[in-house]
Amino acid sequence: MKVDLSDKVALVTGSGNGIGLAIADSFARNGAQVIYTDIDVPAVKKEAAKFPSCRGCEMDVRKEDQVKDVVRKIMDEFGRIDILVNNAGVNTVKHRVTFDEFPKDEWDWIIETDLNGVVIVSRVVSPLMVAQQSGRIIHISSICGLVALRLQSAYIAAKHAIVGLTRAMAIELAPKGVLVNAIAPGSTVSEGTKKLFYGPDGKFVDRIQRILDHIPLGRPAKAEEIAHGALFLAAPESAYITGTVLTIDGGWTAGGYARDF
Ligand SMILES: NC(=O)c1ccc[n+]([C@@H]2O[C@H](COP(=O)([O-])OP(=O)(O)OC[C@H]3O[C@@H](n4cnc5c(N)ncnc54)[C@H](O)[C@@H]3O)[C@@H](O)[C@H]2O)c1
Repeated sequence: MKVDLSDKVALVTGSGNGIGLAIADSFARNGAQVIYTDIDVPAVKKEAAKFPSCRGCEMDVRKEDQVKDVVRKIMDEFGRIDILVNNAGVNTVKHRVTFDEFPKDEWDWIIETDLNGVVIVSRVVSPLMVAQQSGRIIHISSICGLVALRLQSAYIAAKHAIVGLTRAMAIELAPKGVLVNAIAPGSTVSEGTKKLFYGPDGKFVDRIQRILDHIPLGRPAKAEEIAHGALFLAAPESAYITGTVLTIDGGWTAGGYARDF
């Protein structure tokens, strides 16, 4: 997919790996100057180095002071931020337990990263976009922000909250020229899901058939297919879209595919 992002400056969180990396790369290939940020510092340094006009730096979305510092440096060097993608996110690999048994430390880690991290970065960046009277903010939610799955209550709660936050931010920021949308990916092969169920080489293992049974298109997404959605929402052509959730899930949320009733 080709769009014109030349002269645009984009900040993508969690872009050392997976979906965030695919989004950052697609923006850079379409002309944007992209700041790759992550807690995985070697990864962002390596990935950003592919494009001379891009930068890679450490940024933990849970640490407000670090976020402010990174954004200050971006403003010093580039003078603006046109696109923010709040992609950094985690889910538990250790526990699949009911909500009343969910370990507090894992609950806090997921909510702090997947919800509070999005709020922290948005609160630092959106005033700059308001001052510019233009900007695009894209939150990466999940199909877990639209429907519930059992035994993942913290992730479900955080991702549902992101959908609500998208709508709340969209109506507050629309009069100021800033558009806010979300993407709800379905199961996507990434570094994170390789650890969970796709196996190190992305091939299907163990629990994967249970996931595939719910995907009408019969396969998980590639990270690049999620990136196409982000590219569309960042493009000049989507100037009338705000407050929406773009679902990219191979049909997962369209209905009860795994059973006949
Ligand atoms: N892969 C899927 O099936 C899928 C489906 C729906 C939604 N998502 C969402 O897409 C986003 C990306 O997921 P992914 O599968 O590419 O994950 P991933 O684990 O492959 O990559 C996530 C990246 O975020 C970084 N990160 C983690 N905590 C961070 C923090 N505190 N600050 C900054 N960076 C941090 C990691 O280091 C990693 O590079 C997440 O928000 C995830 O919830 C993924």
